[in-house]
Amino acid sequence: MSGPPRGYEVSPWKLRWRTLDVSALKRTESTFALSNGHIGFRGSLEEGEPRGLPGTYLNGFFERRPLPYAEAGYGYPEDGQTVVNVTDGKIIRLLVEDEPLDMRYGSAPFHTRELDFRSGTLRRRTDWESPTGRRVRIRCERLVSFTQRAVAALRYEVEPLDGRMQLVVQSDLLANEAIEPESDDPRVAAILQAPLVADFAAAVDYSAVLSHHTRRSGLRMAAGMDHEIETPDGVRTKIEADGDLARLTVAVEVPEGQRFAVTKYVAYGWSGQRSTSALCSQVEAALAGARRTTWQGLLDEQRAYLDDFWASADVEIEGDAELQQAVRFALFHVLQAGARGETRAIPAKGLTGPGYDGHAFWDTESFVLPVLTYTVPAAARSALMWRYATLDKARARAAQLGQNGAAFPWRSINGEECSGYWPAGTAAFHINADIADATARYLAATKDEEFEANYGLELLVATARLWMSLGHHDPHAGFRIDGVTGPDEYTAVVDNNVFTNLMAQKNLREAGIRCERLPRVARELDVDEEEIAAWLDAADRMVIPYDKTLQVHPQAEDFTSHAHWDFAGTPPENYPLLLHYPYFDLYRKQVVKQADLMLAMHLRGDAFTPEQKARNVDYYEALTVRDSSLSASTQAVLAAEVGHLDLAYDYLAEAALADLHDTQHDVHNGLHIASLAGAWIGTVAGFGGMRDHGGNLTFTPRLPPELAAITFRMCFTGSQIRVAIHPEEATYSLLGGPSIEIGHHGEPLILTPDAPVTRPIPPTPRRTPPEQPPGRAPFRRKPVLPR
Ligand code: BGC
Repeated sequence: MSGPPRGYEVSPWKLRWRTLDVSALKRTESTFALSNGHIGFRGSLEEGEPRGLPGTYLNGFFERRPLPYAEAGYGYPEDGQTVVNVTDGKIIRLLVEDEPLDMRYGSAPFHTRELDFRSGTLRRRTDWESPTGRRVRIRCERLVSFTQRAVAALRYEVEPLDGRMQLVVQSDLLANEAIEPESDDPRVAAILQAPLVADFAAAVDYSAVLSHHTRRSGLRMAAGMDHEIETPDGVRTKIEADGDLARLTVAVEVPEGQRFAVTKYVAYGWSGQRSTSALCSQVEAALAGARRTTWQGLLDEQRAYLDDFWASADVEIEGDAELQQAVRFALFHVLQAGARGETRAIPAKGLTGPGYDGHAFWDTESFVLPVLTYTVPAAARSALMWRYATLDKARARAAQLGQNGAAFPWRSINGEECSGYWPAGTAAFHINADIADATARYLAATKDEEFEANYGLELLVATARLWMSLGHHDPHAGFRIDGVTGPDEYTAVVDNNVFTNLMAQKNLREAGIRCERLPRVARELDVDEEEIAAWLDAADRMVIPYDKTLQVHPQAEDFTSHAHWDFAGTPPENYPLLLHYPYFDLYRKQVVKQADLMLAMHLRGDAFTPEQKARNVDYYEALTVRDSSLSASTQAVLAAEVGHLDLAYDYLAEAALADLHDTQHDVHNGLHIASLAGAWIGTVAGFGGMRDHGGNLTFTPRLPPELAAITFRMCFTGSQIRVAIHPEEATYSLLGGPSIEIGHHGEPLILTPDAPVTRPIPPTPRRTPPEQPPGRAPFRRKPVLPR
């Protein structure tokens, strides 16, 4: 089938794709995914085929699988966990006269799909002509409800375009859909074939329920569907349910000019504890609730939820229409990933695909929560509650590793370590400081005292204790943390990684200061004055390596004395390097996969002078290859801070467009939620210069010459604020909540409800732009203007 040019249309509030391009389906299934953080639907076509990679996910629903090792070692996790493609409730097949709607056959003079960031729905319109010339128009809209978290719904309308027509719709619940075998790329999921075992099936009237369990993880789930049918004429229906398939079949005759519509309500429930019958009852109850709300009611609730979200989180970008779309797309997906997780993890791919086996990493705390904390704080709290709920497992892991406190997993679904590669897994202990940092940030930004006393302080204490056992006092140097891996996965098992040490320092101080403030809670956690003093002392004596000759911070001890990677001799097709070179060689050379020291300079910017930052940026830009999508947003933030505004703009665009342009060539496995979060971070912390050191909210706004304005909203300690940045000045407004003190380029300002405050933007320091390794400079962004 041919049609207009491939790609997404640029539009401020929608993502639209015209024509069917079967080869692009896998990609668009990820970008068009719908989720509420609890249920995830990939954007597959309703009729099930053609398809890329079908996927329906329930947050936390996984199967165990053995982790085979050629040479096992002590403390290696024995089991892996893989997200399961659960019962698919999206499927609606259509028979036009006696021909199945399959877009690989016949023709589709009109076909669009659009994800609407304000309605929170995925819409489709297809005009299809069957191979024998029968024409129908399909209109479809679906949602995964933000307000009723167990519920998804679809409305499917068919209109005959020439003459009276017999139409048959089959609406399915389908378990154990066959999916493609795995590849060798470690970032791809281990796909499980037929992971679900059928327990129960029932059907009555227009509704059906199927229940299954997993073989090894012992989780049970139920999926249910119910329907409303609108038809101008008589209708014949049949409902059946057995094993892996439940199906409602509806046969109708529809005159030309009339429509036939099916509304399908779908509900899911899962548990490791509850019985099959309890889960089926739960799903039936959720369906009853959804039917009572009605399709229109669900649409209205969805819109209202998103209206609230955009009122407190929208980012407006003037001067680059595609970037505007990308940033809203990014925010929408970050919201979808975390909105209703409710003490479940936020996986690296959200619930948009099976990549990384559905695991959550530090991506959550270091990229996603900095966004949610300032836009949807309740969602940030839920994600931290997930970590809290896994504290027992983290304590057990620390004990297994011979450490105190808690050692959270590098990658996991249920809180158990699932990383089989310890140099870039268990050794990446910084995840514990990242969790502490996200906790401290949430507490500073919300003053949620209930969370602090009941959960937050315990997280800070458990992680602080880990650092005390991992590190040691060297009488000549200070407190060292040796043999750990920082964020850059091309350097492993190093001594005194600056990022890790600075984040651990903050962890120790936060734990100490907050325990001093909450002595009763501290006592309950068995913290005494001596322990607090030891934390604060270790923090004060933390070793932060510095190369006096080069006048830069080595990312870790001795890093700057390693050989440089042979960038000139590395052909472009050999990136990402991890797929083409042995780790031992990457580890012993100066080559950086992703922002590490640069991230330290963002999150612990208070520990560097402006001159150090500028020199470090020059040094690390020349070494950083961005083989991880987590890098560009941090590089945007630092480039903006030191004054390379063009470069910051390029990096921001790279982070924001990573999935829409598929720059990592793997969007088919799911979206890069951390990179999408980075679109917000690059805008707000980059060009807005927003920082929260020590619980103070400060801004150093600056625009790149290509943009006319950036306006963003955020909340802090109960105040909603808007920051509008123009080339010469920035205006701060209090939209709601109490007056608040902020900083603008070092000047303290009080925002009151009375009037916005406008301040001039000081000139940007002039510096020579740094160089990147050959071929690894970000794509030079040319603004896309509105048509
Ligand atoms: C990155 C990690 C990240 C993971 C999941 C890896 O490629 O190096 O930092 O946590 O992807 O996004």
